[in-house]
Amino acid sequence: MDQEKRILQEKLSKAQMGGGEVRIKKQHAKGKLTARERITLFVDENSFEEIGALVTHRTKDFGMADQIIYGDGVITGHGTVDGRLVYVFAQDFTVFGGSLSETHAEKICKIMDLAMRTGAPVIGLNDSGGARIQEGVRSLGGYADIFYRNVLASGVVPQISAIMGPCAGGAVYSPAITDFTIMVEQSSYMFVTGPNVVKTVTNEEVTSEELGGASTHSTKSGVTHLTAENDLDCILQVRKLLSYMPQNCEELTHKLAYTLDDEYRPQLDEILPDVSTKPYDMKAVIEGIIDHDSFFEIHANYADNIIVGFARLAGRSIGIVANQPMSLAGCLDVDSSKKAARFTRFCDAFNIPLLVLVDVPGFLPGTDQEWNGIIVNGAKLLYALSEATVPKISVITRKAYGGAYDVMNSKHIGADFNYAWPTAEIAVMGAKGASEIIFKKEIATADDPEAKLKEKEQEYADLFANPYSAAERGFVDEVILPNETRRKLIRAYNLLESKAVQLPKKKHGNIPL
Ligand code: HXC
Repeated sequence: MDQEKRILQEKLSKAQMGGGEVRIKKQHAKGKLTARERITLFVDENSFEEIGALVTHRTKDFGMADQIIYGDGVITGHGTVDGRLVYVFAQDFTVFGGSLSETHAEKICKIMDLAMRTGAPVIGLNDSGGARIQEGVRSLGGYADIFYRNVLASGVVPQISAIMGPCAGGAVYSPAITDFTIMVEQSSYMFVTGPNVVKTVTNEEVTSEELGGASTHSTKSGVTHLTAENDLDCILQVRKLLSYMPQNCEELTHKLAYTLDDEYRPQLDEILPDVSTKPYDMKAVIEGIIDHDSFFEIHANYADNIIVGFARLAGRSIGIVANQPMSLAGCLDVDSSKKAARFTRFCDAFNIPLLVLVDVPGFLPGTDQEWNGIIVNGAKLLYALSEATVPKISVITRKAYGGAYDVMNSKHIGADFNYAWPTAEIAVMGAKGASEIIFKKEIATADDPEAKLKEKEQEYADLFANPYSAAERGFVDEVILPNETRRKLIRAYNLLESKAVQLPKKKHGNIPL
């Protein structure tokens, strides 16, 4: 990443040469790069071909006839990233606030159409005051033309939105439909209605940053998947994100060259605590399994009781969904279910094999969860993992309790390989809760109810607090040592390369949205 940063800095100084001028200075004064600088940084050197540089707006109202600016506030075209074709548009805030006119929209639609025809990702570098006010309904129509294409392109080619300035009004809905959104800290924000309207309607006093800044959307709403320190960091992250993806839904997962070694990872034997109620960091398990330094976490600060992200395993891109015992003991709740379901669907749409690491005591109980729809939201993850036809493997490291056992890529919902570590516990519920229910009378009538409960708890734990009962039934394919997990997974994904599954014929399913 450091070397790439240096190369990008060199490219940046070239892009700035000959730029100068007041408009560019204004943009720099806000800590932002110009649209052209952003594109120059984003694509491989000398690879950018601009389309529509001579387009101008059509409106003559409000004195606009005298203000013709070539390109109309957006630079569109194609280039390569690490040698692979991408389509890109960058809105130019220095031209009418980057606002979207009819022709500005047409330029974006044109590259989206080309991207669909040629099967390559579309990346939007957004920096815009929204619909161009002088154009009325023509600019609203332009937005809808883009939204429609976002929907058609969804699942066909990857779509990524970088928010590098304001993004207000209906403008936020295009990024919301795309696969990934990244926001630059302090200089970008997204909201449907800004602070002034909020004050008028609800009497709330809120700043743009509080209402829709990168920090808000990466922690509270989950609208953004990633945040960046500045424009440069943002562009580096988008380039990295692309490296895990195929070009389109017809291509197989992306693979880097890799020479196999013995692939044992003894450090995995040291991670789990002796006591099964003690937390540990699932990220250490992930790091122990994957290729060195290859984890790219998505939604890191949102619903951190589940971890999702891309990684490489023997050079192959995979998507990881993993419970995190360090947060809410790894329980599934509304937000974590939505987060994992969306990520799962992206991986499935683009042929990225899934690895599910399981340590889940169940769904989070409580009125907050029930009233916010844990039933329908938990069902999203169940649906997404059941529907996924990419290679699906799970490893149960410790707990797999209740409905969450079913949801987390169990054999029953189509997982290809289910491994469990010897520390796995697979049951309807924890030993204490289970004993209190099924031995209620026996405990109540015992001379020493407390001792009786302990005895029954032990009995239940002996039977179910292990992976063997599930393995006897074939719900777990193999009980493996932590140190051999990586080796097993590499072999299993190799085997699954030729996996072909057809879902029943239908128009589309009806995921519980
Ligand atoms: C035309 C616009 C514009 C717009 C900004 N400008 N937004 N021109 N249409 N939507 C122009 C300004 O007039 C100004 O021109 C220049 O861009 C820079 O704007 P400033 O206000 O000076 O910049 P700044 O102080 O940084 O504030 C940025 C801003 C603010 C927060 C984005 O400009 C703003 O609130 N704009 C309006 C946002 C908005 O309400 N948009 C419509 C949303 S509704 P000069 O010539 O002075 O440099 C919508 C509906 C879509 O988008 C529906 C789709 C379904």
